[in-house]
Amino acid sequence: MTSSSHRTSSPYPPTPSARPIVVLDFGSQYTQLIARRIREMHVYSVIVPCTVPFDELVRMSPQALILSGGPASVYDPASPRADLRIFKLNVPVLGICYGLQFMAAHLGGKVESASRREYGFARLEIDRQSELLRGLPSPLRVWNSHGDHVVEVPPGFRITGRTENAIAVIENPESRMFALEFHPEVRHTEQGSEILRRFIQDICRTPANWFPGSFIEQSIERIREQVGEGRALCAISGGVDSAVAATLVGRAIGDRLTCVFVDNGLLRKGEFESVSAALREQGHLKVRSVDASSRFLQRLRGVTDPEAKRKIIGDEFIRVFEEEARRLGNVEYLVQGTLYPDVIESVSVNGPAATIKSHHNVGGLPPNLTFQLIEPLRELFKDEVRAVGRELGLSEEIVSRQPFPGPGLAVRILGEITADRLRMVREADAIVTEEIRGAGLYNRLWQSFAVLLPVSTVGVMGDARTYAFTVAIRAVESEDGMTADWAPLPAELLQRMATRIVNEVRGVNRVVLDITSKPPGTIEWE
Ligand code: XMP
Repeated sequence: MTSSSHRTSSPYPPTPSARPIVVLDFGSQYTQLIARRIREMHVYSVIVPCTVPFDELVRMSPQALILSGGPASVYDPASPRADLRIFKLNVPVLGICYGLQFMAAHLGGKVESASRREYGFARLEIDRQSELLRGLPSPLRVWNSHGDHVVEVPPGFRITGRTENAIAVIENPESRMFALEFHPEVRHTEQGSEILRRFIQDICRTPANWFPGSFIEQSIERIREQVGEGRALCAISGGVDSAVAATLVGRAIGDRLTCVFVDNGLLRKGEFESVSAALREQGHLKVRSVDASSRFLQRLRGVTDPEAKRKIIGDEFIRVFEEEARRLGNVEYLVQGTLYPDVIESVSVNGPAATIKSHHNVGGLPPNLTFQLIEPLRELFKDEVRAVGRELGLSEEIVSRQPFPGPGLAVRILGEITADRLRMVREADAIVTEEIRGAGLYNRLWQSFAVLLPVSTVGVMGDARTYAFTVAIRAVESEDGMTADWAPLPAELLQRMATRIVNEVRGVNRVVLDITSKPPGTIEWE
């Protein structure tokens, strides 16, 4: 993630040539999902805070507006508000949850606090007159999360769906305004994506024009315009974001881009060699591979605190990177793989989310270097980055890699990092990955890996007593890493991984499985 002092672009999302579906964010935890679902239909959608200045919104020339949910109560004076002229823009509007209440309250209806909060599943009974939901099975199981509810609909609207406790759907087809009390963007809602599809395709008649190919063309053009005859530098981390960002910029400016891949000694087995080679061959990039592992390990000696590890790794990275930049001399641009969720977070109505771990500090911009930023992935979600990578010709090996934290294996060895512990976690991780891939689960999991616990337990191997370390297996499903469920892996797979780890990794005699979801756990152990 970039430090704000280096941001050169507008804080609002970029405006591509297509007119976007604009999601006004009222603070819901599901806002990003709304935009993702729309993009899955190949329609460009952006998120802006509900407080976006009205002329800024007009400048975006939205095809339609979606008002997100949010935790507040509409009549609370401190509740988030949008400029009421949004209802005069003469574009279709869809309100979701708080968005419905906001519409009802400000278009002449009435909202009240419910006697009890409706949270979780509800049964939606659909009225046959509904234009938006016509022909869908009724009742539908829908996902709810609201305290207030509508008691009087605004003039011109009619009620077209109810749950047991609330008016759940209101519509004014003449002015193309629709609102739902439940969350169609959440996978738990039956027909949720179909409901959004109907709004986008049937009501708004938005053409599908958001494809990786057209994104690549536009962004190459933009990069050429920005960089002119200049030179650029890109730090490669082994992850998919920096690989795709570098390849895209490489397409635009050729060998005026230099990639620097620093081996911090904390990468996975074979990663440094295979990623460097793939980017040279598939991405046709000029890659400088720098082995700095001994410097990193030296500074990490004796350090056990997770945040101290992150700080040291971030700091050492900057030193190495600065040395490389100086060696090249005369480079004006720095490529960063910033993704859309970071951009959204920086303009969220809730303010940037509280930092639980000092993420993204590795690869952060050296504060005293004066680069201009190229951030070609600023408008993409992670799955879109993967689609762009495939379109650019990068192999599945690179494109479908699971996310890997910047501080690498350092946060997967609890306590002190030593060469021997790195060997153990690296070997164990390679076994987990190989077995997960062999079972065909690698792409279905958000992350799957091994953690080394320097906790010694007694075991018996052959006839001998052992006293050795423990490995924990962590496998999670997630859409964005913000929340995650532990993944129920098949018993035979777990058994194979455990047997192999104990047999093949010297120094480990016990394997345990982490069955904590996020929250309350985090994905990484440190
Ligand atoms: P947690 O552990 O907070 O992780 O649930 C959420 C996602 O972020 C990754 N992660 C990091 N990424 N630097 C990074 O670049 C870090 O320090 C870091 N810590 C966690 C983690 O792998 C997961 O995908």
